[in-house]
Amino acid sequence: MTDPFLCLGLESSCDDTAAAVLRMDGASPTILSSVVQGQDALHADFGGVVPEIAARAHAERLDTVTDQALADAGVALTDIGLIAVTAGPGLIGGVMSGVMFAKGLAVATDTPLIGVNHLAGHGLTPCLTDGVTFPFLMLLVSGGHCQFLIIKGPQDFTRLGGTIDDAPGEAFDKTARLLGLSQPGGPAVQTAAATGDPARFALPRPMLDKPGMDLSFSGLKTAVVRAKDAIVGPGNTIAQQDVSDLCASFQQAVADILVEKSRRALAEYFALSPAVRTFAVAGGVAANTELRTALQALCADHDVAFCAPPLALCTDNAAMIAYAGAVQYQAGRRDGIDLSARPRWPLDTGQAPLVGSGKKGPKA
Ligand code: KG4
Ligand code: ZN
Repeated sequence: MTDPFLCLGLESSCDDTAAAVLRMDGASPTILSSVVQGQDALHADFGGVVPEIAARAHAERLDTVTDQALADAGVALTDIGLIAVTAGPGLIGGVMSGVMFAKGLAVATDTPLIGVNHLAGHGLTPCLTDGVTFPFLMLLVSGGHCQFLIIKGPQDFTRLGGTIDDAPGEAFDKTARLLGLSQPGGPAVQTAAATGDPARFALPRPMLDKPGMDLSFSGLKTAVVRAKDAIVGPGNTIAQQDVSDLCASFQQAVADILVEKSRRALAEYFALSPAVRTFAVAGGVAANTELRTALQALCADHDVAFCAPPLALCTDNAAMIAYAGAVQYQAGRRDGIDLSARPRWPLDTGQAPLVGSGKKGPKA
């Protein structure tokens, strides 16, 4: 394959069906199109993502989002030089839908195929959006994942720590459900929190008393349930101000936990003595304004550049998959038609797996 080349990215590991076309000119990427079709309405009645419904919707929609991405980019399928598809970790039915679809396209057009780790997609996003160079420290924080990574290359990820149970995005979603707010919960909780008092409820900050960078959010979730029980009035109603105060207190607790653990992760990262110090956030929860502001302040204190990609590229998308696939292909990785879908796929295989299970299945 010669430069420049076009990479088609495909993502279907949770509840977004996405396709994107990326142009790679040497090491320079340009996003020509990025289409994301969410499934919130399909899962709304169930209080969470239903894997079977998600998988079926991906299978039905992958061809239309791909057509749309090609049309938006103004290119034909035959112009594509590489097909990159999320091959895990995630809800296995959805991942299989994407992998099977990508294999069909690859065989039909005789195009190289590469399976991408969804977390590598999020992890390499700062290189795509902001030209961040290796090494950098990343907090990857989403609905299914929460981990600190030192990223030294397209395939070189060292995990410093991560959640031992739930991911913060799940906790945001659960808090929203509990308080009758809309899904996904993160933006709804953030909006309600804007008029709330973050000091009203004394919620726990689990594991801050323990050394290291592992995190836990299940105790915080339980504390929110208890706090809600204390403010429920007659007829199961909760005053609007109480909802706002509880959302603000919860959001503050999440931010406090992530900021303190980030402070510790920065110390480990400094031991590498990088010439340019950069701390990046990615994943859906990185869209949270309060968290971004708090992390930005932490970085300013430590004289570290802070990178928070645009919101549309923080949440699940296929441009990040196309980019991760393209740079890993350039680095020599190859996959064949025997590529398999993986429900779990740790980025840092040198570490013991994290325990727990979340919205997207077992933690990577
Ligand atoms: O990265 P993502 O799109 O999907 C996963 O890989 O999980 O993240 C989705 C998660 C959801 O839990 C959603 O509630 C959360 O990101 N989220 C937010 C915000 N926007 C999205 N959480 C807090 N504040 C936000 N503004
Ligand atoms: Zn994600």
